[in-house]
Amino acid sequence: MFSLLAKTLSSSSAARGVRHIHRSTAVCSDVLFVHKDTEKNNIDTPFEFTPDNLKRAKAIISIYPDGHKKAAVIPLLDLAQRQVGNWLPITAMHVVAKLLDMPRMRVYEVATFYTMFMRNPVGKYHLQVCTTTPCWLRGSDDIMAAVKDKLGIQPGETTKDGLFTLSEVECLGACVNAPMIQINDDYYEDLEVADAQEILDTLAAGKKPKAGPRNGRFAAEPVGGLTSLTTPPPGPGFRVRDDL
Ligand code: FES
Repeated sequence: MFSLLAKTLSSSSAARGVRHIHRSTAVCSDVLFVHKDTEKNNIDTPFEFTPDNLKRAKAIISIYPDGHKKAAVIPLLDLAQRQVGNWLPITAMHVVAKLLDMPRMRVYEVATFYTMFMRNPVGKYHLQVCTTTPCWLRGSDDIMAAVKDKLGIQPGETTKDGLFTLSEVECLGACVNAPMIQINDDYYEDLEVADAQEILDTLAAGKKPKAGPRNGRFAAEPVGGLTSLTTPPPGPGFRVRDDL
């Protein structure tokens, strides 16, 4: 029902040249919440933690007190995803469930709720373009169009060479540096179209582009330079009384 409403409003808004109604990932994409066996992701897909990662997993579990070990499910799923190469086969969820003595269904619930877990293979670089309001106001439509144009793919798709997967995502918490793209673990911020293109070229050439703001500022400092805290703070020392 919502999907139909969103589609109807979206097409009429697009025709009028205004921003379409905000839609959730599930509505926008063909990523299913349910698992469907594929050639690469099925009950026989091999997965075991490597000896090093098993050691890490046990260290993570040991952080949590008795009776609360299941709270390690997110870091363990993350560890498994990193080991596989940015995605999480269903058999990795089973291994995590076994390690934490949890029903598999509980692990599925976590893995399907958090969009950070990719339940199907993705490219070497997972591009997550934020299109929520602050990024949209700062030109995320142009960034998205430039990425789509350069790679020849739509959100939810992977380039034929397996290098890039494109996703359209909601706010990634870097609004003050809008517009931005997350690529694997890095944020690329304060982007212009030329920056996005250059980042993709650099990655395609096998190099790592510099992460962070692209407009020369440090982190989220004001674009025009500091307006406060421009001198070193005096610290908590003493003050000289002039009435003595
Ligand atoms: S709106 Fe894009 S990071 Fe917050």
